[in-house]
This record gives sequence, C-alpha cells and structure tokens, in this order.
Amino acid sequence: MPRRLLVTSALPYANGSIHFGHLVEYIQTDIWVRFQKLRGHDVHYVCADDTHGTAIMLRAEKEGITPEHLIERVWREHKSDFDGFLVAFDNYHSTHSDETRALSEDIYLQLNERGLIDIRSVEQFYDPVKSMFLPDRFIKGECPKCGAKDQYGDSCEVCGATYAPTDLKNPYSVVSGAPPVRKASDHYFFRLSAEACRQFLEDWTQRGDHLQEEARNKIREWFSQGLNDWDISRDAPYFGFEIPGAPGKYFYVWLDAPIGYLGSFRNLCARTGTDFDTFARPGGDTEMVHFIGKDILYFHALFWPAMLEYAGYRTPTKVFAHGFLTVNGEKMSKSRGTFITAGSYLALGLDPEWLRYYYAAKLGPTMEDIDLNLDDFVARVNSDLVGKYVNIASRAAGFIQKRFGGKLFGSRFTERFESELPGVQSAAGAIAAHYEAREYGKALREVMALADEVNQFVDKHQPWQLAKTGEHPEQLHYVCTVVLNAFRLLTIYLKPVLPVVAGRAERFLDIPPLTWADAGTLLPPGHQIRPYEHLMTRVDPKQIDALVAANRESLKPVADASAPQRNAKTQENAVTENTQPAAAPAAAPAPAAETASPTISIDDFMKVDLRIARVVTAEHVEGAEKLVKLVLDIGTEQRQVFAGIKAHYDPAQLQGRLVVMVANLAPRKMRFGESQGMVLAASADGSGVFLLDADSGAAPGMRVK
Ligand code: MSP
Ligand code: ZN
Repeated sequence: MPRRLLVTSALPYANGSIHFGHLVEYIQTDIWVRFQKLRGHDVHYVCADDTHGTAIMLRAEKEGITPEHLIERVWREHKSDFDGFLVAFDNYHSTHSDETRALSEDIYLQLNERGLIDIRSVEQFYDPVKSMFLPDRFIKGECPKCGAKDQYGDSCEVCGATYAPTDLKNPYSVVSGAPPVRKASDHYFFRLSAEACRQFLEDWTQRGDHLQEEARNKIREWFSQGLNDWDISRDAPYFGFEIPGAPGKYFYVWLDAPIGYLGSFRNLCARTGTDFDTFARPGGDTEMVHFIGKDILYFHALFWPAMLEYAGYRTPTKVFAHGFLTVNGEKMSKSRGTFITAGSYLALGLDPEWLRYYYAAKLGPTMEDIDLNLDDFVARVNSDLVGKYVNIASRAAGFIQKRFGGKLFGSRFTERFESELPGVQSAAGAIAAHYEAREYGKALREVMALADEVNQFVDKHQPWQLAKTGEHPEQLHYVCTVVLNAFRLLTIYLKPVLPVVAGRAERFLDIPPLTWADAGTLLPPGHQIRPYEHLMTRVDPKQIDALVAANRESLKPVADASAPQRNAKTQENAVTENTQPAAAPAAAPAPAAETASPTISIDDFMKVDLRIARVVTAEHVEGAEKLVKLVLDIGTEQRQVFAGIKAHYDPAQLQGRLVVMVANLAPRKMRFGESQGMVLAASADGSGVFLLDADSGAAPGMRVK
C-alpha cells in the first residue's frame, strides 16, 4: 500500500532572497520527497512565501509600491530560484491567499469557541511619528552594558549581551528615528498555559516519535522555564489578515505562516481534485511531515500542534529540524562573499546538482550545523560525481557503441552479475533505509563505495586491452554490459539527489524513467542503447572564485538589513517577534563627524572640475601596499588614477561601476606611473573608505556640481 504524505518546507520570508542557508532545507526536503515518489508513494510537497508582517509592509513603503506588488515580485524570484535548484514543489503558494485567510479565521474561531483566546492589555514601544507599534527589531539604541551605539532591542552585537528593548539607553525608532514612547493596547492571546493545552503538548512532544531526540530535550528545557500564553495579534498598520470581529487587530505573521502549509495544500487540492480532509483532519492514515530549521522549532513543536489540535485539524506526524549552514567553518558573511544567494549561483551558470550532491553528502538526521567548505566542495564533486560515477558510463559506453552497434550482451546473467559485483544490486534496501532516515551522507558514502567497486572491476578486466587485441569480443561485450548495468543501478540510487543527470542517463540508456523498484532488475539482454551523452562537467575552482566575488559586498560596505542573517543562537527563543527590519535606518546617528571647514565662494568650488567616470579596469599594483590602479572613462578620454583603496575594495568588484573624479587635479608622478586625477571617497577616523556613487542615469563625463 503506498503511503500518503503531505510534506512541507518552512515558508521563506518574502522580504529577502533565497540564499545558501535556505537551500540546505529545500534541497534536503526535495531529496526526501523525490525518494518517496521513486518508491511509489503518494506525496504532495507544498510550500509558499511567508508574506505578512511589519518588515514587508515597511519595505514596500520604502520602495514606493504596495505590499501586494512587492510580494508578487519576490514570489517570482523565489520560484525561479527553487526551479533552478530543482526543488520540485507540487505547489508553491503564498500566505496572502484566500485559502490561508479562510483557514486562519477558522482556526482562530475554533480556538475562541473553546475558550482558548484571551484579550489583555499590553504595553509596547510606539513610534509617535509613524503612529505604529514597533517590533523589537525596529528599535535601536545604546547597549545598556557596554554603551555601544546602534544596537538592536534584543542583543548587542559588540559585547553579546542580551536584554529587553526597554533596557536600551537613548532608544530610537528604526523607522522614523524618533524616540519611541510606551503605549498600551489590547492584544489577543492563545492560552497555551491552559492546563489541558500544556498537558497535551507535554504528551505530544515527549511521547511518540514526532520529534528528534535533541528536539525533545530542547523542549523539555522550555517546559521547565514555563509555557507562556502566545500573543497572536498586532495592531494596525500591519500587512496581514484582520482578526474576525476585531477591527484594527491583525493576526501576527507567525499565526498564519504555518497555516500557509494547509493553505497551499488546499489550493493544490482544488486544482487536482485531491481530498483535503483526508490529509488535514484527524483519524486517517495519511502523514504530515514538516522540514524546518532549528531556529523555528518552538513554533512548530509547540504553537502549531496546539493550534491544530484545538481547532479540529490533524497534528503533524513528524517535525524534522536541521542545523544551520556555515561556509568555510564560519557564519555566512557578506563582506567575505560567503553569504551566497541562490540567484548568483544560477546566474553564473554553476550546476545546481553539484550543490545538491555536496549538501546531501553532508546531511544527516540531526540538528547539527553543516559546513560548506568551498575547497572541499570542488574536490568532492569532481572526485565523486565526475571521477567515480560519470566515469563508469563513459568507460563502457564507447565500446558498446563502436564494437557492438549499441547492443548489450545477448543473454541473461542475473546471478553472475551479483557474483561479479557483489552488493551493487542488493544494496538497494540499505540505501533506501538511509534516505528514509534522512541519513543522506551515509547513503552517498555507500553509493560511492559501490562506484569504487565498479571502477575496480573495469580496471581488472581492462576493456581497452580486450578491444585492442580484439581476441575475445564476447568477453569485451560481457564486461561492458556488466558495467553499464551497474551504472544504471547507481543512477537509481543517486536519482533523488541528481534528477537531471539521472534523466540524461535514462536517455542514453534508452529506458523509461527509473523508479526504485527497477533496482530489482537488470537491463534486458540485447537491449539497444543510444550514443553516450555528456552527463556532467567538472567544477572549475575559478567558478567558485567568481561566485564569492559576485557575493562580496565591497560595493555596499554599509550593512544591508533587508536580508539579515539569522543567528540561530540568539533567535532560538525569540518567539515574541521574529520579523526583521526592512531597511537600514535613515536616521542612524553618524559616527564622529568632523567639524565643517571655513566658508568658500561658489567660484572657489567651481574651480574643482568634478566628473562622473566609469571604471574601465581596476587592478592591484605590484609592490604597492595600499594602491589600486584604475583606468577611468570620463567620456572624452581615459585617465589612469592610483587610488589608496586596496584594503577596502576588491578590484574585480570595481570594474564597470561609476565613481566621481577630480578631473583637473595636476598629474602626479608616482613610483608606479602617473596618476591623472583623484576619485572621491568618504571616510572618518578608523572607519572604512566609501567610494561615491551616482544615481542611475548619470553617464561618464557629466559634470558634478
Ligand atoms: N518564515 C519563517 C518560516 C515560517 S514556516 C511556517 C522563516 N523564514 S526564513 O526565510 O527565515 O527561513 C526559512 C527556512 O530556512 C527556515 O527553516 C530556516 O531555518 C531556514 N534557514 C534560514 N537560514 C538558514 C541557514 N543559514 N542555514 C540553514 N537553514 C536556514 O523562518
Ligand atoms: Zn554591548
């Protein structure tokens, strides 16, 4: 009997791009889903953009568009990133949908009917200029401990202290810059601390096997700290769903986000005629499985099951939490270029299956973090995928094609195959068990050990020697047929991870799409194959250099808060507010401003001929510690300028950008050549150096005045 599964990945926020951290999750889930489908199970894999909240509302406002317009654009970007990485959702929806609204209202009304909703007055920070309540992340001020400026309301990035936003000294609103005031307002609470609810959750989390052991332990800790009621409302202005019967009150984004799983599924059901209730109501034999990152365990292991239970829906069968991605052993970093976006990887034409393979090789069933080491990435993809797996096909296919007209050996050899290559066929069960248990690393180690066996078999029989002497054509024919059969089996085992390569292999073997059950058979005797098709290229380390360069933010040295990196440690318990600020504050106080110089006349100023210039080339100067050599186009001519910006900018990143130059500065002879001008940059004591830019529309040669 096929299992019936509803599988989800967490819904990415619609206020940032998909990056390599996200992909750990979506690739992990997609592999599991593809595996289940290959096994013949009935799987519905759904996801959606998580579109509500203050951050998205403010970002849209800043861009001068409606939130609907913003989330529509981001949806398209996210969808194309997921398609690019072969993440095959059966439905990719949005939480800003009729389905999610209806389900949210229903769940809320059910909870209310059961007496699980409370209304209480809450005092919060309020921006008197913007007339809105401020989530913690939108308040900054001085750290109460070390006095560092511009720290967020929850923790200090300088000394690491954690505190409440009320502890900040000289707090200001990130939105308007105004000092926030305290203001009370009614909030709606889900009474998680109600005795029945607490009992249910203790039971659900600690008994049965809905959660990993580590997750269960974590939750026991949370229980011992006491379970608080959950604030599920936010005041207008807010981008979200208004609470029925409560004008001006909106569902907090985290209330409707998980409901978005069901919203997406209901949308899919309507299109495909699938019965929603079979999966969404209790009592059936269907399974509901959530893949999430460890930072959102609280929401998925406590709030979500409780919401479902008390609103008459089924609770999750499994919640699988994974760890966080590090790159080269460190947190992803924009300045190092390791905060890598999905889009940049695809735009550079890198093969998505390289990353899928590398992540899979690193993934296990625990909440441990996983590291992407970029050198290891190149080495492993090249040696495993190209050197071991792809090589097997290319070693045997040519002989079959040239010597035997593309036809395989003519008689059956099922038993002989097992004795020639013990394990290659019988490993199917063990490998399947590894995929099922999310032990992808183990599965792939097993597959690569088998690939080693097959390559040794080729080395032992030396088909090229057999071909050269031409003495035993049947032996050559037999050996190559054994090898291609082994290749076909390995392709099945890799197919959840490498669907495109598997598709190419199926075309070249001229067989219908492989399923897991096909591991029980071999290719029919005398089967005709097609000419060998190129399966996968090697990774060139230069491609990785280019990827890092493309993601290095030397052009925008000021941190961009629009897609902030999640800090797993400090966010683990951050259940009060998880929305992120949309943009860097306009009103952040400037560091140590220099006092202004004495007055000059406009004529004095006009003596300086400032021009827009485009960087034609930028390169390091041999032997110079601080200099970058720039060739600048100022419309009528090109100038060579030596700029002291080596410590702050990567030359590769400068090419093509606009700068402002002093065009009438007397040329100066330097050790490395003549400098014919100067580019303008901002700096202060101990700060970085920040090149001046021009808004789009400016062109080389334009005067700046
Ligand atoms: N919108 C919420 C989820 C709502 S689910 C009902 C959210 N969005 S997110 O965009 O921040 O993250 C989406 C998923 O990606 C989460 O499961 C999160 O843990 C995961 N990851 C985000 N950054 C990550 C890493 N650096 N590493 C691994 N996974 C990470 O949370
Ligand atoms: Zn501090």
